[in-house]
Amino acid sequence: MLRSTGNIVQRLVQKVWVYWILATLLACGFMGYALTADRSPAKRIFLPGKTTHGHYQIELDCHACHTTSFEMKQDACVGCHVAELKQCKDTHPATKFIDPVNAQRLKVLDATNCLTCHKEHVPERTYPMGLSLPTDYCYHCHTTIFEDRPSHQGFAFNSCQTAGCHNYHDNRALYENILVKHFGEPDVLENPHVPSRDYHDWLKSRKQLGSPLTAADQDSKLPADEITTALAGWLKSSHSTAGVNCSGCHQPPVEVGDTEVPQTWSESVALDVCSGCHKPEAEGWLGGLHGMRVADNFPPMQVCDARLPMKSAAAHRLLTCNSCHPAHQYDTHLAAVQACLECHNDDHSLAYTRSSHFELWTAETNGKSPAGSGVSCATCHMPREEGAGRIVVNHNQNANLEPNEKMVRSVCMNCHGLEFSIDALADPQLINKCFEGSPAKHIESAQMAKDWFDRKQRERQERLNRRNSQ
Ligand code: HEC
Ligand code: HEC
Ligand code: HEC
Ligand code: HEC
Ligand code: HEC
Ligand code: HEC
Ligand code: HEC
Ligand code: HEC
Ligand code: HEC
Ligand code: HEC
Repeated sequence: MLRSTGNIVQRLVQKVWVYWILATLLACGFMGYALTADRSPAKRIFLPGKTTHGHYQIELDCHACHTTSFEMKQDACVGCHVAELKQCKDTHPATKFIDPVNAQRLKVLDATNCLTCHKEHVPERTYPMGLSLPTDYCYHCHTTIFEDRPSHQGFAFNSCQTAGCHNYHDNRALYENILVKHFGEPDVLENPHVPSRDYHDWLKSRKQLGSPLTAADQDSKLPADEITTALAGWLKSSHSTAGVNCSGCHQPPVEVGDTEVPQTWSESVALDVCSGCHKPEAEGWLGGLHGMRVADNFPPMQVCDARLPMKSAAAHRLLTCNSCHPAHQYDTHLAAVQACLECHNDDHSLAYTRSSHFELWTAETNGKSPAGSGVSCATCHMPREEGAGRIVVNHNQNANLEPNEKMVRSVCMNCHGLEFSIDALADPQLINKCFEGSPAKHIESAQMAKDWFDRKQRERQERLNRRNSQ
């Protein structure tokens, strides 16, 4: 009896060993897979912490930033962000510090390395934009500021980067000359409006606009009862009036050698098809949070994976061109507000329909006020900008979002004075209410720039007077 129990225990122990070995092998296999397989979700277990708001959508592409041994890749950050920093006329580019005159300052803070100031996967140590700086870092390099600028005496060491005063990279709306130039403008300018879109005229001037098509011209070859909605939408859209037939999207020709061969009908329409005709729009879209996953060869973002509050009914929608431009109609008024509010559900977005901007937008939509006088979500987040020889709707909704002074020149200054715009954007409560009300406080920087400029003028005049009287 005792012996047989001993045997059973022995056999069990043997079995446990077998299971243990099996489990270990499995765990090793899993770890091996997680370590080696490109973009496997298992790689998340190696993340030290939550990835930043700007990068979490592409976090599984570890090797966009890391080498295989998880060192930082040289120039990974610059590779993706150089164009943006160049465009914003970066006031502190790394190249500035290669100059031996400024090299001394690098001993305090290595400004040639993005990681001195930006961190990743350490949410407990980072602020928005992955920043992990001591708040008084500007003063480390600009130690003589209080002597150079008497107006700055008494300012706290950490106040340089207060909203509306200075940024580290992008100071396009904040540098002295522009502050002085736009000093004293009224809060609302005369005849406030944004530029008109000129795509239609631009295509026409380049003879790229086809002749208008009618129902009889449609080339789909599908039974009439299967295309009722598609046909009705298409007939109303500028695609039909600009000569873009069904086949233009559903059977785009492919080049075989020197000739273009039509494909078979495909019900779904890939991004490449839209971008074939709308390159600047597609490029913009790929650069922001709406399209960045596709840009990095992931499937499109799904709404339920978002971190910002979203409408639950939209949870399973994917982010594509169709998110705002549902197939066939391509109504840009619908795309500019209604489409956004089918997904976005944060306080700021929801407050929009209570704002005077929305009243202006409604008046424009109803034809009661001129085109361009309304302010939609897209007016601010997808501004109409010069580019590619025409006015282009910037489809990168992150291009002017942070720091928000980026919006001053591309958006607000079409309609508001510079000082009012800076004041409004420096007021987080006002942003939360989607700009319903007046800015809480006035930022003095324009006044300071003006005083400085006037003093310089006076001094120069005095010097001239002295020279003349000698
Ligand atoms: C957008 C760029 C980016 C992506 C994508 C990214 N990381 Fe990182 N990661 C960083 C940065 C920046 C640091 C901080 C490096 C430093 O401070 O030297 C970091 C640090 C780390 C560290 C700590 C390294 C150390 O030496 O302390 C680990 C581990 C890590 N990442 C793993 C991952 C894994 C695993 C993935 C993919 C699932 C990933 N990272 C994706 C940018 C990225
Ligand atoms: C594969 C391309 C890619 C790489 C590599 C990359 N970024 Fe980004 N980054 C993006 C995209 C796309 C966004 C989101 C759009 C935006 O905010 O401009 C973004 C956003 C940001 C933001 C704004 C974040 C926010 O919360 O608004 C900062 C700051 C930033 N990146 C810095 C860095 C730094 C520093 C590195 C190197 C450690 C880096 N990026 C590496 C593509 C990249
Ligand atoms: C000395 C600190 C510092 C260094 C070094 C630094 N940044 Fe920044 N970065 C900031 C601060 C502060 C912000 C917040 C906005 C601002 O003040 O300009 C920022 C914002 C950004 C943004 C958001 C968009 C924008 O235009 O402001 C991006 C992208 C960015 N940094 C990328 C980089 C890259 C890439 C590098 C390396 C080439 C880098 N930064 C080096 C401090 C730094
Ligand atoms: C690593 C050192 C360093 C840091 C940190 C730094 N600066 Fe600078 N800054 C410089 C250098 C170098 C110049 C070039 C002009 C000069 O020699 O003074 C400069 C120029 C400027 C200018 C004049 C820009 C122009 O070209 O018209 C302003 C304004 C300025 N910095 C403000 C700031 C503010 C605000 C911060 C913090 C957000 C900051 N700096 C952080 C080194 C630094
Ligand atoms: C500007 C591009 C474009 C043009 C032109 C176009 N379509 Fe479409 N069509 C789409 C898109 C986008 C979808 C949605 C596909 C998806 O979900 O991937 C679609 C879907 C469809 C569908 C599937 C069911 C539905 O209604 O969503 C049919 C049928 C269809 N189109 C017929 C037509 C016909 C007929 C024409 C010409 C009268 C036409 N399309 C012209 C872009 C276009
Ligand atoms: C064969 C070329 C071609 C393709 C493919 C194409 N478009 Fe267009 N699209 C045009 C032309 C031409 C216009 C009309 C310009 C005008 O007259 O204003 C236009 C206009 C538009 C407009 C503006 C509508 C308006 O009323 O102002 C939107 C939005 C649009 N397209 C989105 C898309 C999307 C999304 C896709 C892919 C599903 C797509 N287009 C595919 C050529 C194309
Ligand atoms: C199909 C759903 C959908 C539609 C439609 C949509 N968005 Fe988004 N939007 C998202 C998701 C998802 C994100 C990413 C949020 C996140 O990462 O937490 C996002 C991000 C953004 C951001 C960046 C926020 C940030 O903090 O970086 C802005 C701004 C934005 N959307 C504005 C708009 C505007 C304006 C419209 C309409 C013209 C619009 N969206 C239409 C789903 C949508
Ligand atoms: C977040 C919503 C949103 C998404 C996603 C979106 N668009 Fe748009 N698109 C708009 C709005 C809003 C307008 C009109 C803006 C205006 O009137 O200033 C517009 C305008 C356009 C126009 C007309 C441009 C002109 O100058 O007349 C084209 C073409 C276009 N979009 C193509 C695309 C393509 C291609 C994609 C996918 C890569 C796309 N859009 C994705 C919201 C969006
Ligand atoms: C008058 C300009 C303006 C209008 C109109 C506007 N926004 Fe914004 N939006 C902003 C500014 C400014 C910010 C804040 C940027 C910052 O400081 O980070 C912002 C932030 C956002 C964010 C990011 C919120 C977050 O918590 O990170 C989303 C999403 C957004 N807006 C969507 C919308 C939608 C959707 C609409 C229309 C229903 C809209 N906005 C109307 C100017 C505007
Ligand atoms: C197309 C023109 C236009 C653009 C662009 C525009 N606004 Fe306005 N905004 C107006 C007009 C006009 C009013 C005055 C409405 C009224 O008094 O009824 C206004 C009112 C305001 C108000 C006061 C609202 C109130 O209830 O008193 C604020 C704050 C504001 N805008 C901020 C901004 C900011 C910040 C931007 C840029 C992000 C911006 N606006 C972009 C036209 C515009």
